[in-house]
Amino acid sequence: GFWYKQGFWYQSKADFSVEAIMAAQDDFQLALPTDIFLASHPKTGTTWLKALSFAILNRTKFKTTSGSSPTHPLLTVSPHDCVPFIDCESFLTNPSYANGLLATHIPYTSLPKSIINTDCRIVYICRDPKDVLISSWHFLNKLNDDVSTPIKLVDAFEVFSRGMSPGGSYWDHVIGYYKASLERPSKVLLLKYEELKKDPEKEVKKLAKFLGKPFTEEEEFDGSVQKIIELCSFENLREVSNDGKQISKVLSDSLFFRKGVVGDSINYLTPEMIQTLDKITKEKFDGLDISFQA
Ligand code: A3P
Repeated sequence: GFWYKQGFWYQSKADFSVEAIMAAQDDFQLALPTDIFLASHPKTGTTWLKALSFAILNRTKFKTTSGSSPTHPLLTVSPHDCVPFIDCESFLTNPSYANGLLATHIPYTSLPKSIINTDCRIVYICRDPKDVLISSWHFLNKLNDDVSTPIKLVDAFEVFSRGMSPGGSYWDHVIGYYKASLERPSKVLLLKYEELKKDPEKEVKKLAKFLGKPFTEEEEFDGSVQKIIELCSFENLREVSNDGKQISKVLSDSLFFRKGVVGDSINYLTPEMIQTLDKITKEKFDGLDISFQA
């Protein structure tokens, strides 16, 4: 079943479902001012942002090559195991606040009040809507592997462009966090997938500063930034995920690594679809300073 709640569409009886969001609103009253939330719409680079933030905050605790400190978790487990989603059944039944780093797909306007009221920091990642659609379409079809009829692209396009995808409208999701980032710049940082791909060093430094763990001058020169980028690269994370590990009842870790590039949607969408999506983007973001450069 599908639900329309607080301005967005949700599925029922799934992770990130309407029930999970309502439960998070009721149950998540414990946010601490030191908590950091990684927020996103699905398929915008959540897994990457989780890995980068975790690696930045824990960079002195773990070894990645040699030395006596413990092996880096990202060399053995999924970024999703390092940073839990609060809007997942598993978190709601067994909350773990291991390191104050948490994630959510909940739209800004529906976030549990304690997150806003306690002034937690929020990092939001977004991405070109066309690539989000194509990434979601592949993801849903892989998730439904056992179902004999795959979702047709035209149908996925229709649902996405009408803003009826789970957690959608995507555009409204971005707008909510974008406005928050303007109103509370020290509390809400907006990152873009495309910019992370284009200049990872600049964006990772920006992220580290926002997270309260800026790189020291020494670190900027000793390759620490590069090391984190490398550890969290698509290739590395995908390799770690390759053994079919599950991160929840229905999700296997490797589902989160497909192609990891900017602009892959051009290989799937018709020129008409591209035109329609770009038109929606232009209309929705009219007067706002949001754009996605390849
Ligand atoms: P594609 O399907 O376009 O390849 P999310 O983590 O929000 O579910 O987003 C998944 C998307 O991010 C997928 O996009 C996936 O391949 C890509 N991705 C995952 N890890 C990445 C990384 N380390 N670097 C770049 N892209 C990554």
